[in-house]
This record gives sequence, structure tokens and C-alpha cells, in this order.
Amino acid sequence: MTEHVQAATTDPLFNPLSPDFIRDPYPHYERLRSTDPVHLNVHGAFVTSRHAETGLVLRDKRFGKDYVERQIRRYGTKIMEEPVFRSMSHWMLQQDPPDHTRLRSLVVKAFTARRVEDMRPRIQEVVDQTLAAIIGQGHMDLIEDFAFRLPVTIICDMLGIPEDHREVFHKSSRYGGRLLDPVPLTLDEIKQANAGTMMAQMYFQQLFELRRRTPGDDLITQLLQAEEAGSKLTNEELTANITLLFGAGHETTVNLIGNGLLALHRHPDQLALLKSDPSLITNAIEEFLRYDSSVQMTGRVTLEDIEDLGGKRIPKGESVLCLLGSANRDPAVYPDRPDRLDITRPNVRPLSFGGGIHFCLGAQLARIEAEIAIATLLRRLPELKLDNAESPQWRPTFVLRGLKELPASW
Ligand code: HEM
Repeated sequence: MTEHVQAATTDPLFNPLSPDFIRDPYPHYERLRSTDPVHLNVHGAFVTSRHAETGLVLRDKRFGKDYVERQIRRYGTKIMEEPVFRSMSHWMLQQDPPDHTRLRSLVVKAFTARRVEDMRPRIQEVVDQTLAAIIGQGHMDLIEDFAFRLPVTIICDMLGIPEDHREVFHKSSRYGGRLLDPVPLTLDEIKQANAGTMMAQMYFQQLFELRRRTPGDDLITQLLQAEEAGSKLTNEELTANITLLFGAGHETTVNLIGNGLLALHRHPDQLALLKSDPSLITNAIEEFLRYDSSVQMTGRVTLEDIEDLGGKRIPKGESVLCLLGSANRDPAVYPDRPDRLDITRPNVRPLSFGGGIHFCLGAQLARIEAEIAIATLLRRLPELKLDNAESPQWRPTFVLRGLKELPASW
């Protein structure tokens, strides 16, 4: 394991946890796209940076997850005894068909565009309450005080987590970012992640008991009923996928709101345009997703030999890392100044939510939460200014890209 971590610092093209990469990955992406668009990195994974190969890998059935095999190759055979890896191996995100299809079909109805549209009044209510509590202060941290509360509250509503249990989640849930990074975890990080996983498992087992006694109109109750109805879902799968929904449901959306607000304030003409024409908000959210996505990468494994991916031959069983954030800046698809934020850009269609069978389940929910949060903030606090737009502090994770804080005053 130590060998891997040391090796990570020696790759001149793809060194995603280096401070420089975290601060601004985009010049690094540009170099990858123009010099080695399917780059074999120091861990033996192939890194795709252009839109063409990245989009293809996400949609093509010759690429899958094969998660357990991949982790064993990376860490050794005992890795699946670690609670955090065992739990992640049951996430629908890490499954191939038919298990993926079975797990996804159990929850997909809760996330349809129609169901999410119906949640608009509740989302607006949470944003209004959050702002009402801080509007008299004259300053806030847009991440902690504003962006964070909305997605956590909404996913807790959907899962049926009782109001009086939520404070602990509000305080402790931003810990898991490193789990998804393409640089192996250290022993210490695995230990910490195990502790977090076991705490979540204990909490959810208690909540399951409560919902078995007192069913609600929520996702956990529905999934418990599916579990009891027979062979649709094991208890381990249930707990793991609830944990996935809980985590996926907020860290990413907090960062969409934070990265979007930062980008907007660094482009004052675009900020002025959005304030003068609030109807541009829907397209602006797509452009925020493209310009600085809160999810920078996802991965696949080759399920058969691939004769030609961007000029490279990739044998069966190799990892492919798909740089979504780089595909989103590819001039072949975005010929008009891809490094500039343009909220009126036509046909944005970023790869930020992935593609193919794993396309983000929460995409529409995230879009609407960000839309309501940012539109309401600009309307209610038109004088708001960022205290430090030029050198913001980024969280030290690569796949989940987001700010530690974003102080603002008005
Ligand atoms: C800006 C916000 C978000 C971004 C950028 C994002 C990004 C992504 C991406 C890239 C994938 C596909 C990964 C792959 O192909 O390997 C994905 C999958 C997923 N996302 Fe999101 N996500 C966001 C918000 C959400 C929300 C709000 C939820 C749920 C409440 C959610 C739940 C999921 C789930 C369950 C999957 C796995 C789907 C599957 O494997 O079939 N995401 N997300």
C-alpha cells in the first residue's frame, strides 16, 4: 500500500492529489488531452481525458465495474474483510447487471423528474428558512451556513430520518470524500472509514427497527417492505445502499452550489447577466456543472480485451479512469472558449452526472436544489460579495471537488 502512495507522486501527467492539481486541475487536463489522451498512470490504470473516449467508456457494455476483483488487485485478498470495502461492494454504483438492475429498480421511482418537481415547495421552504436564520448577520460561510443544510435536509426527508436524529448528521457527515479517489487509502484512512461505516450501520439498523414498527411514507420503509417480500434485497444490500444514497445525496450537491457560486463571482459579467435575467438559471446550472463539476471522475474495468481506445490497446481486467471534468472542457465538443463560464452556452450537456446504466439517480434532484438555492440567494441578497474569490481553500480530495469554506458578506 505504501508503495502505491509513494508512486502517486512520481506521475508527471496525472497526480490528482497534489496541491497544485487540487487547486486547479484544468491546465493538467489540457496537457493530458493534448499529449496522452488515454494515459497509462503509475498505478497501471488508463486515464481518459477527452470527451470522445470518456463518453464511450461510460456507455459501452465492454466496460463494467467488477468492483471486488478490482479492489483485491489493488489491496490484496483480505481487503473485503474491511467493513468499509464490504459495504461499498454492495452499492448499486459498484455493481454490474443483473444485480445493478435489481438494486436500481427498487429506488428509481423516488427520483423521477415528476417526483422531484413535486418537491420544489419543500426545497424552497428549506432555503427560505436557512436564509431567514442568517440574513441579519451580514456575513456567512456559504458552504457551512447555506449550501450544506439543503441537500442533507432533503435526503433525510426522503429516507425518513426523524427530525430529532438529524443534528448528528448535520455535524458529522462530510468525512467520506477520500473513499472515491484513485489513489489507494492509507491504513489510517481505512480505519477511519471503517469506524464511520460501522456507526452508520448501527444507526440504520435501529432506524430499520423503528420503521418496521412504525412504517412511514419514505424510501427506507419501501425498501424494508421489498426486503421482507422475499429475495429482492438482502439486509447488507439495504444498509449499504441507504448509506450510498445518504452520502451521494448531499456532498455532491453542496459542492455544485459552492463551485457554482464561486465561478459566478469570478465572472462578474455572468453574475450581472443572471441577476438581470433570472430565467437563465436552468441553463446556468448546466454550465456550472460543466465548468467546475463537483464530481471530477468515475471508473470502469475492461470486461474484455479492447483493441483500440484512443489508439491504445487495453487488455481485459484493467482499470479505466474517466475524467468527467476534463471531458467537460474538451474544445472538440465546446469549441467556443471552453475555459470560460458562459451561462447562455447552448447544448451544454456536461458529463458530470456520468452516462449509461449508472447515470446519476439524483441528477434532477441536484439540479433543482441548486437552482432554487442559487436563484433565491441572488434575489434575497443581491449585494452579497465573496470575501476571498481569488484564492479559495479547496478540500483535499480529487473526485469530489469542493471548497472548505466560501466566506461572504453583504
Ligand atoms: C451535483 C450533484 C451530483 C453529481 C455531480 C453526481 C454525479 C454522479 C455520477 C458521475 C454518477 C455516475 C458514476 C458512474 O457512472 O460510475 C452518479 C451516480 C449516482 N448518483 Fe449522483 N451526483 C450528484 C447528486 C446526486 C444526488 C442528489 C443523489 C441522490 C439523492 C445521487 C445519487 C446517485 C446514485 C445512487 C448513483 C449510482 C447510480 C447507479 O449506479 O445506477 N447523486 N452520480
